[in-house]
Amino acid sequence: MPSIHVKRGVFLPLLEGEEELIRKSVSGVLQEYEAAQENLIPILLQVQEMLGYLPGPAMEQIAAALKIPAVDVYGLATFYNQFRLHPPGKHQLKVCMGTACYMVGGRIALECFERRLGIKEGETTPGREFSLERVACVGCCTMAPVVVVDEQVEGKVTPTRVDGILLSFEKPAAPGAEAAGQKGEDAS
Ligand code: FES
Repeated sequence: MPSIHVKRGVFLPLLEGEEELIRKSVSGVLQEYEAAQENLIPILLQVQEMLGYLPGPAMEQIAAALKIPAVDVYGLATFYNQFRLHPPGKHQLKVCMGTACYMVGGRIALECFERRLGIKEGETTPGREFSLERVACVGCCTMAPVVVVDEQVEGKVTPTRVDGILLSFEKPAAPGAEAAGQKGEDAS
């Protein structure tokens, strides 16, 4: 039977060794609880705390242990906002959607990030470089619209600033790469 992460196609592929880490982490959490459906939410919360998100195989393992359908676990995880189905990116982009930010362009900033990264809010880019989420007021309303980039607060975020933020993470070309490219062109 296909696993839910394959069947639904909503999960990113696991990293090397991640499956084993998930299995061990979930087993550890399950040992702390009686295998009863009423413990599902605390189990999911604890697994998420350990792994940073709820991978498909984790939900399947939990479902099997509690003897409930995996799709029920998935349904519950998607129903509540506090559960993440995508791994945190290496860089986390949090767009404030509090009232002050929303009124002056928070939604536009979010849509710009979505377009540039090719993902929707709540998702992570395929290489796990960036994750994008919306958050409630972060307490810097005078700088609206605000985006928190990793731990750094960015204010007055226009579409141009969105480009600037993403460009700042682009890796510089390796030293000499340009010269080598030029040499190659000259030789041809
Ligand atoms: S509403 Fe965005 S910082 Fe307050």
